[in-house]
Amino acid sequence: MKTLLISALAGVVLLTGCDRGSATDIPDANTQPTASWLSTAANSSTDDLLEQRPAMVYLWAGSGFERQYTAPRGHQFAVADVVNTLRSADGSKSASCFSCKSPGAPMLMAEYGENGFGSKTMAEVGHEMAVSVGCDDCHQADQQSLRLARPFALEAMAKVQQPFAKQNHATQAAQTCGQCHVTYYFQPEQGNRVNIPWIFGNSADQIEKYYDTRRFYDWIHPISGTPMVKARHPDYEQWSRSSHAKLGVTCVTCHMPVKTDANGREYHDHNTANVWDNFDSQCIDCHVSESTLKAKMAKQRQRIDDARSEVEALLVKAHAETGALWRAKVSQAQLTPIQMLIRHAQWRWDFAVSSHGVHAHNPQEGLALLAAAKTQALQARALIAPLLAAQPDLRVRYPDLSSKAAAQQFIGLDMPALEQQKQQFLREQVQDRWPGW
Ligand code: HEC
Ligand code: HEC
Ligand code: HEC
Ligand code: HEC
Repeated sequence: MKTLLISALAGVVLLTGCDRGSATDIPDANTQPTASWLSTAANSSTDDLLEQRPAMVYLWAGSGFERQYTAPRGHQFAVADVVNTLRSADGSKSASCFSCKSPGAPMLMAEYGENGFGSKTMAEVGHEMAVSVGCDDCHQADQQSLRLARPFALEAMAKVQQPFAKQNHATQAAQTCGQCHVTYYFQPEQGNRVNIPWIFGNSADQIEKYYDTRRFYDWIHPISGTPMVKARHPDYEQWSRSSHAKLGVTCVTCHMPVKTDANGREYHDHNTANVWDNFDSQCIDCHVSESTLKAKMAKQRQRIDDARSEVEALLVKAHAETGALWRAKVSQAQLTPIQMLIRHAQWRWDFAVSSHGVHAHNPQEGLALLAAAKTQALQARALIAPLLAAQPDLRVRYPDLSSKAAAQQFIGLDMPALEQQKQQFLREQVQDRWPGW
């Protein structure tokens, strides 16, 4: 991957000439859309979120997320990061993991069908994922008109009565982001294809109703036996209900503003990370000053962080206590209502926090979700309390959450073995075989 990044930074473009369409064609780096797109390779820093909040290791035990979870960074890293993460292990996971990383994914969906693509493994298709979040993800063949390359995203927008073809230009542009910056799951009965679960609507309540109706779970929590659902970055969903959306302020207004190049030509900045560089052009009409706005946002962020810490602490206890009751052979009839409350509380918590920008996009929704999650977690513990009291000798094993490593050890993860498995996969199947690696 190093070679790809270095050549990307130098503006040298090597990735041309794929026979099967344009998914790997990158035009001249001397135009500003392309140069700014390449410049996301400079947004390389990331944060280890499990180190920051070891409780998440325990809440996500058994899901894969307990191994590694980092903050998002520049679009140029999307493919590298999904291949390198311990979550994707030895490449035997579904090719669907590439769905929101590269135009190679929709290209292969067209070839094999969505189910056919999902049925393949990452190892089988990785050599087609040379470009990370490329032009063809958002543009038609002219590399200017907008499109949604992903069939599941086209379907999803239609489910919430916002069909792409019928939207105004600004909403279409926001939907190009919403192809990937949405929550989703893999449909096991459909070859693990990606599905965006918006059939009843795209709020946390409506998606939960869908999952509950289908009795769907992403994984069974090994400590409490709870059938869990995982939320994943619902950025589009939360933005679509925000004050900004109502005023026509979109992802593109804030993350891809119009700039002027040295020759006086206007272009959209394709480096999505630089929101705060654009205050004077994009925000000043409605917000008095950058420092006031930043202070307001920081305050909301603090409120959200405090609320989530409270919910995380309650959920950790609820899982541990339910686990003790489960192992003490308390009847499933008594456990089920507790497990449902844990499932619903953790779903709301996750829907709030897995969107990394909720403090900016829709702080009110974030706080409301966390308040509901807290109530549900408290209700779970209210059901647990008398059952624990009935068994005074029962010992609950609360986890050691003093660090990421301590939490991983507590849940029994063999991290050196996982690291070794990853290195072997990279050495034997990726390096010198896939373009750019
Ligand atoms: C093909 C899928 C895809 C599309 C389309 C997409 N993104 Fe992303 N985006 C990602 C992935 C994946 C990451 C995380 C990459 C990583 O951490 O390796 C990401 C990261 C980001 C980040 C993190 C900040 C940074 O450092 O760059 C922002 C902001 C962002 N995207 C905004 C947008 C906006 C705005 C749009 C629409 C113009 C958009 N994205 C379209 C997949 C996509
Ligand atoms: C009103 C402006 C605005 C709109 C509209 C907006 N964002 Fe953001 N976005 C921000 C700000 C501000 C941040 C937080 C940056 C910070 O914390 O300093 C952010 C954060 C993010 C992040 C997390 C970046 C990170 O590094 O953690 C992603 C991803 C993202 N936005 C994507 C989107 C997508 C996709 C949309 C549209 C569905 C969107 N944003 C709409 C302003 C906006
Ligand atoms: C994540 C989605 C996304 C990706 C990836 C992307 N673009 Fe864009 N592009 C947009 C959006 C959104 C606009 C603004 C469209 C509008 O509002 O008219 C745009 C505008 C443009 C324009 C019109 C001129 C301008 O800047 O406004 C050109 C040309 C362009 N992009 C080229 C490219 C090229 C070349 C690539 C790949 C190197 C690329 N884009 C990658 C979303 C994307
Ligand atoms: C068309 C007007 C408009 C524009 C342009 C606009 N905003 Fe906003 N913004 C609003 C409104 C209205 C609210 C909601 C205020 C409230 O609920 O108190 C808001 C709220 C916010 C919040 C949440 C603050 C909070 O805690 O309530 C952030 C962060 C934010 N805007 C960032 C931005 C950024 C960054 C830009 C420019 C890139 C921007 N906005 C451009 C109208 C706008």
